[in-house]
Amino acid sequence: MPCRAELSPATTLAATAATLAAVGVSAAARVAMAAVADDHTRSVFAPASPSATAIYELFLLVLAIAVAIFVVFAGALLYSIIRFRARGDTPPDEEPPQIYGSRAIELAWTVGPLLIVLALFLIVVRNLVQTGEAETAGDELGVRVVAHQWWWDFQYPEYGFSAPNELHIPTTDTEHSGRARLRLDSADVVHSFWVPRLAGKTDVIPGHENTMVLETAEPGVYHGQCAEYCGMQHAGMLIRVVAEPRADFAAWVKAQQPPAVDDPAVAKGRERFQANACVNCHTVRGTPADGTFGPDLTHLMSRRTIGAGVAENNEANLLKWVTDPQTVKPGCHMPSMHLPPEDVQAIVSYLLTLK
Ligand code: CUA
Repeated sequence: MPCRAELSPATTLAATAATLAAVGVSAAARVAMAAVADDHTRSVFAPASPSATAIYELFLLVLAIAVAIFVVFAGALLYSIIRFRARGDTPPDEEPPQIYGSRAIELAWTVGPLLIVLALFLIVVRNLVQTGEAETAGDELGVRVVAHQWWWDFQYPEYGFSAPNELHIPTTDTEHSGRARLRLDSADVVHSFWVPRLAGKTDVIPGHENTMVLETAEPGVYHGQCAEYCGMQHAGMLIRVVAEPRADFAAWVKAQQPPAVDDPAVAKGRERFQANACVNCHTVRGTPADGTFGPDLTHLMSRRTIGAGVAENNEANLLKWVTDPQTVKPGCHMPSMHLPPEDVQAIVSYLLTLK
């Protein structure tokens, strides 16, 4: 038995060291891999913003302290197991000397942890204050985020449009801050907005506005997800944050601002779209469609995915979606309209022109 007890803390220690090494390696590799393509890493070990870096460093510090404590205690345990093990030379019924009370030891294990907790508390407060200062410094861009079951509406009041599921922000460069202040609200239940590489989680609560700041100097497409269970498609509400240089961001704004194109070639599809219940839930700016229950479709084809990340945005998937959304995203709040196939095709042809 002593043999087994000796092994176990050492094995755990080795495993912890291996995990730490792996974490270090993967973080470095991920930072190196960050490119302009969609970055699927949803890892707090590859921070790409000041606040995510602060959280990451705080995590490493807490981890280091916890590992140090583990080493001290496991070491003392290991030492005691070996040093005071039964050697077979003491009579079985003879007790070792019983010692009660030691002021020095009592003090050590009271004051030690107290100091550690105090130090951690002060560091956390410093991080909170720093994040708070960052949030009140001159913001560049205001975005209203409204969470829905199960998609995200990103509204740009300054520019007068809504861009569902894809949040575009300018990157911070040598001349400008690309800081975006998000004001988060929910249309239904509690959600949580989380883009691990850019910031911590923020709850999105109906009727209660929370704010957070996103900022990064690295252009890229950062993925995030809802981090509070909100129903059947909780996992089906992808956040794509497109961080792009100032000029690209301005070009994107310019492309999103105009009303929808009016292509006479798809007049039948537009008529079918407007004659059905589509218009009660969706907005297509420049047309009578002004519903707000579902995502704005004015520039639908500028987006990479449909159904908040459940499928690529292409003709085949749009056909499936318009025929019966429940086959693409079970549980979503858009019902099958039971349209004849030729109407579905006409509507999709129309949607495909909404660039
Ligand atoms: Cu929204 Cu979980």
